[in-house]
Amino acid sequence: MAIVLARTIAELRQQVQAQRTAGKRIGFVPTMGYLHEGHAALIRLAAQECEYVVTSDFVNPTQFAPTEDFERYPRDLQRDLQVAEQAGSHVLFAPSVEEMYPEGFATTVSIRGITEKFEGAFRPTHFDGVVTVVSKLFNIVQPDRAYFGQKDYQQLLVIRQLVRDLNFPIEVVMVPTVREPDGLALSSRNVYLSAEERQKALSLYRALQAGQSVILQGERRRSVIEARMQEVLSAVPELRIDYAAAALAETLEQPEAFSPGARVVLLVAARLPSARLIDNLLVQVPNP
Ligand code: PAJ
Repeated sequence: MAIVLARTIAELRQQVQAQRTAGKRIGFVPTMGYLHEGHAALIRLAAQECEYVVTSDFVNPTQFAPTEDFERYPRDLQRDLQVAEQAGSHVLFAPSVEEMYPEGFATTVSIRGITEKFEGAFRPTHFDGVVTVVSKLFNIVQPDRAYFGQKDYQQLLVIRQLVRDLNFPIEVVMVPTVREPDGLALSSRNVYLSAEERQKALSLYRALQAGQSVILQGERRRSVIEARMQEVLSAVPELRIDYAAAALAETLEQPEAFSPGARVVLLVAARLPSARLIDNLLVQVPNP
């Protein structure tokens, strides 16, 4: 069956309502489009677990700061339709900015705490925009399950907090990060990178791997783990480091040292001249 393109909230609701009435479980994959294999992995898992899959394709202006890349963010609706259909999505919801934010729109959904560090510290209005648009999308689609990538690990925790706090009856599913064979995490923003920058971008994953290996060798002091990641990133002079951090995976708290058995997330963010990149790795501290 060919994928349906819905451009309005009313059309999308009509499509989904018919499927829900037929007793199908609704899976939802929110995206900003320019779909790649990472997005496709989310859609494929949704299609395995749910009988009907909605993918949204909306470059959300409220999560970009005025200085950021909203205008030049890559877009290709025709290709997105193909990728989404191929991966098993039944409908692609691609509303206009006016459809999502009509004149007079005045609400912001905002979360304290978990949004304030890492990405939130460098992009102060970003998570308000994400949380507001995801709340709207959850209310429009009313899915049973929603799929988010580990690639944006802090975003995933923020969405879990949203679902808990506002009682959305939705199960949030995390999908592991899809990488290029050389380790670079797939991202729509990778198209900004020159061939040279593409090589330099690999140091993010290398830094994460270096942090992981010191942990697996028994290091538990956060400062030492973070210094090891910094060291790898600093070897690339064109790279401006925003953060290279280790935190508890559930809460993003940063104790001075991690306990044996703790689940730790290593998080890096750095800027090259033409793109800002983030990546992360989950590591369990070995038991002695
Ligand atoms: P976007 O950057 O398009 O990402 C959409 C989803 O795909 C997110 O859950 C993201 O974590 C996941 N994703 C991206 N790259 C991935 C990769 N290499 N491997 C696995 N998953 C990957 O995240 C957003 O859009 C927006 O903030 C959104 C949630 C749609 C709200 O506007």
